[in-house]
Amino acid sequence: MSHYKIAPSILAADYANFEAELKRLEATGVEYVHIDIMDGHFVPNISFGADVVAAMRPHSKLVFDCHLMVSNPEQHIENFARAGADIVTIHAEATQHLHGALQKIRSTGMKAGAVINPGTPVVLIEPVLHMVDQVLLMTVNPGFGGQAYLPEVAEKIAEVARLREKKGLSFDIEVDGGIDNKTIVSAKEAGANVFVAGSYLFKGDLQANVTTLKAALHD
Ligand code: DX5
Ligand code: ZN
Repeated sequence: MSHYKIAPSILAADYANFEAELKRLEATGVEYVHIDIMDGHFVPNISFGADVVAAMRPHSKLVFDCHLMVSNPEQHIENFARAGADIVTIHAEATQHLHGALQKIRSTGMKAGAVINPGTPVVLIEPVLHMVDQVLLMTVNPGFGGQAYLPEVAEKIAEVARLREKKGLSFDIEVDGGIDNKTIVSAKEAGANVFVAGSYLFKGDLQANVTTLKAALHD
């Protein structure tokens, strides 16, 4: 299994045909599907919830990488566990109980992720780095696909990679937003190894776009 992973975001997929879209994704050889959960409160947009994840679960063997852009995510963890999520990543800005919420995610058997927005300093998640399987650094302000990559986040990616090294940890570093065949290179060079992409992948030929991203990673 490669160190580098591409995580297509179904926020950019055909919502009327999730089963078929999951099959298309599996056919490209990706291991993850990134599922953007939005509550219309923590972010201005509403997408889908745990019931949609549960409906998708029987139709796919992909890793369900759920990104909870919801307020008080601790209230939803059990629902996503029951729905069959593999990874639940929560925003440090969205809860007063980040440590407890991450403990709760892991207690269900799911992998835990912490995510911060472009304007949030890494120090906010430093106390929980020892208890996550992935750190997600938003390279756009969350809520919508199709936005431009924020190059200033590279510094934060490098800072998280340095902290991981210093603490002898081994979590993945995921980036999310505006990833294409060019920005994926700078995110990789900064230290990321999991790359969420929505609009880049789902516009035009999905397989060709996955192949182009893998080639950009020299993977
Ligand atoms: C934005 C979501 C991202 C988004 C990525 O809030 O978290 O996962 O779907 O979409 P693109 O790749 O189009 O920026
Ligand atoms: Zn996302």
